[in-house]
Amino acid sequence: MTAAYVVIGNPVAHSKSPDIHARFAADTAQDMRYGRLLAPLDGFAAAVQEFIAQGGRGANVTVPFKLEAYALATALTPRAQAAGAVNTLKFDDGAILGDNTDGVGLVTDIVRNAGFELAHKKILLLGAGGAARGVLLPLLERQPAQLTIANRTAAKARQLVQQFQQQRGGCLLNACGFAEATQQYDLVINATSASLQAELPPLAASVFGPAALAYDMMYGAQPTIFMQFAASHGARVRDGLGMLVEQAAESFFVWRGVRPHTDELFAALRAQL
Ligand code: ATR
Repeated sequence: MTAAYVVIGNPVAHSKSPDIHARFAADTAQDMRYGRLLAPLDGFAAAVQEFIAQGGRGANVTVPFKLEAYALATALTPRAQAAGAVNTLKFDDGAILGDNTDGVGLVTDIVRNAGFELAHKKILLLGAGGAARGVLLPLLERQPAQLTIANRTAAKARQLVQQFQQQRGGCLLNACGFAEATQQYDLVINATSASLQAELPPLAASVFGPAALAYDMMYGAQPTIFMQFAASHGARVRDGLGMLVEQAAESFFVWRGVRPHTDELFAALRAQL
């Protein structure tokens, strides 16, 4: 029987996931279909259970249900546990496995696609909300020399630092407000939602070290205001389109055990923006 998958969210009409997974399925000759499931705001768990009852095998979870998916899962991967949120569900014999592929998607895009090695580097992560927390473990696993979390509300950044002490390995993990981020960094990642409001975290231009990469998790037809600011101070810039594609590829691998190629799809999506 053709295996069924969906992206569950509210809203969900704009999601690129069905197009992405249809392409992965065709490229890897997998017998599967992938649709959209609009769940009522108060009906996420019921929508998932109904989909499972219909034979559904897995789902991507998007806004605003990633925390509810975390709570619904009967088992969690370490990276989902660390993220505190789930973007990938796999249904297997009554079990609901919760995973989170956002962080590995970001890291793959930075390391493989942008050719930027993370080991021994100094990273500045802007933001301390769900998006920032979701990528911390995969970043730390690449053994950077230092990871500073800067946030408008510095206390939230400090909380994250406390939470990830066990996983920091040899990395210097610290927190500050934007105004205190005065060192030079090799990589600056914008995980705030400021770009959505066309706002810029108030950041000193001196944070961009020589040959720095500035990465915005947002993407769009135009460079974000953060990317424009970084580029004007000499940084190389990249938006989050590659992260979108790579987190999808990792979800596909979780479900199907097959790793799709991503380069051509990335180029096609870029052309459509
Ligand atoms: P997400 O899931 O996108 O991370 P979130 O959990 O609501 O959403 O977190 C939003 C993040 O963007 C937070 O770090 C927030 O800073 P605060 O913790 O101080 O609220 C940050 N943020 C939102 N708008 C911002 C702005 N205009 N300037 C700087 N940071 C902003």
